[in-house]
Amino acid sequence: MKTILVTGGAGYIGSHTIVELLKSGYKVISVDNYYNSIELSYALIEKLAGKSFIKYTIDIAQENALEIIFQENKIDGIIHFAALKSVPDSVDNPIFCFKNNNNATLNIGDCAVKFGVRNIVFSSSCSVYGNVEPSDLPVQEHTIIRKAESPYAYSKQNGEVYLKAISEISDIKVFALRYFNPVGAHASGELGEFPSKHSNNLVPIITQTAIGLRDHMTVFGKDWNTRDGSCVRDYIHVSDIAEAHVLALKKLFQDDFKNKFEIVNLGSGLGVTVFEAINSFEKMSGVNVNFKEGERREGDVEAIYSLPVKAKDLLGWTANRDVDSMMDSAWKWQKKLIELGFNTTKI
Ligand SMILES: NC(=O)c1ccc[n+]([C@@H]2O[C@H](COP(=O)([O-])OP(=O)(O)OC[C@H]3O[C@@H](n4cnc5c(N)ncnc54)[C@H](O)[C@@H]3O)[C@@H](O)[C@H]2O)c1
Repeated sequence: MKTILVTGGAGYIGSHTIVELLKSGYKVISVDNYYNSIELSYALIEKLAGKSFIKYTIDIAQENALEIIFQENKIDGIIHFAALKSVPDSVDNPIFCFKNNNNATLNIGDCAVKFGVRNIVFSSSCSVYGNVEPSDLPVQEHTIIRKAESPYAYSKQNGEVYLKAISEISDIKVFALRYFNPVGAHASGELGEFPSKHSNNLVPIITQTAIGLRDHMTVFGKDWNTRDGSCVRDYIHVSDIAEAHVLALKKLFQDDFKNKFEIVNLGSGLGVTVFEAINSFEKMSGVNVNFKEGERREGDVEAIYSLPVKAKDLLGWTANRDVDSMMDSAWKWQKKLIELGFNTTKI
């Protein structure tokens, strides 16, 4: 049985990925410092998967702090999720973002080299493409990388550059998976994203408005050059993202797979507008969302969506869950959050 170290395993995507790893027969070790998560995630994962796993509470951005995990366990692969993901926070406090995200990735790479771990999957982001122009669409792995729009996006660009460099000087193989817009929750409604310090993602805002935690939500701009005037994004179900990680590991463990560094976009390929997302939510939940139409928000781009051909060709992965399932699961999770006592939009 292969052992996978998951950094940031108590977080949103990490927790869903651990469920899939356990279901696929991997032994899992998670490390998190709960900066943007809570330990309760672990109990929910274990209940869903019917299996337990090893947990470490460590700030992996601290030099040498991680080594204990590698000394105590034989690790076959690493999925490196741990990062600060709030774009506005990274703009307000770039030093904290860089120190955390860059140092965490440096330390992971350092330990992988030192302890002979040859397989790494890195959480990257479509934000590495920068301010995407309409002529860049649909975004593919070879699409031009424009200037990063935030320290967060730089930290992801840096992470890719660093891991590519170490793959070239060692026998480490790396997948950098660039996610588009992960949303939704486990289909059971028993696992999802907990309210965090800063959440400005569309789907939690929709569900929080529907359940009455917000008086209303705002659709920023209705005069974009899109089919209904609202912005277009490529939403992707978190369980589809989780499954892609299991497929990426499977590929890395294949003896005849020799590629050292591969970038793969994870998107559905379907651009969905804000109004379409709201309509889907209302259809699936039977609840009307109180939204207002506001001005365009500074920094927003009109549309971004992928052409996920490489993920299919290389990993055999496609996004299986549609927007309705994203909304249905997100709504189930929102109700579960209330049941768990999270009557809040932010913690
Ligand atoms: N959710 C998205 O919209 C999205 C989109 C693109 C890329 N990503 C990337 O995917 C990864 C996972 O995102 P997520 O949505 O699950 O975020 P998340 O905040 O829910 O999970 C990240 C986890 O990492 C932990 N962490 C952060 N710094 C740490 C450190 N120094 N030591 C130990 N633990 C640390 C946090 O406590 C958290 O549990 C991140 O790298 C993020 O940048 C996320």
